[in-house]
Formats: sequence, C-alpha cells, structure tokens
Amino acid sequence: MIALAKGRFLAPSLGLLARAGIRFDEEVADSRRLVFDSADGECQVILVKPMDVPTYVEYGAADAGIAGRDVLLESGADVLQPLDLGFGRCQIAVAARNGESTPDGQRPIVRVATKYPRIALDHFNSKGIPCELIPLSGSIELAPLVGLADRIVDLVETGQTLRDNGMKIVEVITESSARLLVNRASYQTKRRELVRLVDTLGAVR
Ligand code: PRP
Repeated sequence: MIALAKGRFLAPSLGLLARAGIRFDEEVADSRRLVFDSADGECQVILVKPMDVPTYVEYGAADAGIAGRDVLLESGADVLQPLDLGFGRCQIAVAARNGESTPDGQRPIVRVATKYPRIALDHFNSKGIPCELIPLSGSIELAPLVGLADRIVDLVETGQTLRDNGMKIVEVITESSARLLVNRASYQTKRRELVRLVDTLGAVR
C-alpha cells in the first residue's frame, strides 16, 4: 500500500509510479475514490492530504508514501526516507514585506504566521529569537500585509507569490523536494517488495 498526496504532488507521483510499471486502469486524479488497485493487482494506492502522508506511513496503514521533505519535517514522523524523488523542489524560508529594515520584525517578540509551526519554532528557537506563532492553513503571504504577523515561514517555489504580494525572502531555512517514505516495520516484514520498489523508483526518478 502506497500513500499519495492529493494536490500538486499527485500528477508527478502517478507519473513516477507509471514509469516504474505501476499503472491504473482508471483516472486516479479525476476520481473521488480514495483507494485504487494497480492494473496488475500487485499494488494499492490511497489518496490522502499531503500533511497526512507521514502519519499513514509511520503507523503502517501504508507501507510507503510520497511526500515533501517539508511535510516530513513538520510531522516529526519516525519513518525511513530512502529516496529523494527529484520533483517538488522548493525552499522553506522566512519572508517579510519589502522595505522592512529591522532584521527580525518590529515587536520584541516576533509574530510568525505559518502552516509549519514546528519548523518555524525550531528555527527561531535555534537562533534564540523569541517568537509567537500564528498557525494558518493557507494564503500565508497575506498575514504581514494586514498586520497579523511580522514574518512568515512558508514554501517558496518560483517566488511568484512573494513577489506579487510585495515580499522577499529574509532567510532560507532548508530545501525541500519529494521523498519516498517507508514504514520501518514494513521494511523488515516486506523487505523483498520494498527493496524492489526503492530500486525501481530510484532507477526511473
Ligand atoms: C504554496 C506556498 C506559497 C506558494 C509558493 O501555497 O504556501 O504560498 O505555494 O509558490 P511560489 O513561490 O511558486 O509562488 P499553495 O499554492 O499550496 O496554496 P496555499 O496558500 O493555500 O497554501
């Protein structure tokens, strides 16, 4: 069982699986179904929210999954991470409005809006900068524009969203890309299948 993320990772994930010989008779991306058998009946995939992929893999509900490193870091899930799959490359960065001169915002405690509270907190803690997290689930770039936050911690892929909203990167925290995640116990109990999956995906990524 492989957990795939709905949304922007779905098409490249299905493309990768197809190149590895895991194909589906129906249009996975167009369906409302959540569980699909591969055409040869050898493999099942489930579709879940991106942030939930590490959870399904950590608990063994899925033997493997495809998720961004950003999502994996944020989840803190204890899973194997044998392959960088090469797509979904982006940065996780601290960003601020253009023209802001103070290095870490106006307030004594920096207000940080993000959908990555764990990554953001670890980052500001590691620098010894007191921060107040404002958890949001999307449109993060809006927060500094309306005075909700001094900084954001968010994904930057092309940089277009930042540019269009008059913002800039202050600091890159880390790089991200799609990763193959594997459940630790499954890697022992289904070793043959999972080693084959890792080898095949590694060859066609
Ligand atoms: C992500 C991310 C940024 C944007 C970055 O948002 O949170 O807002 O993409 O991409 P860019 O650098 O290419 O502009 P997403 O599209 O997932 O929507 P969201 O605001 O609902 O999280």
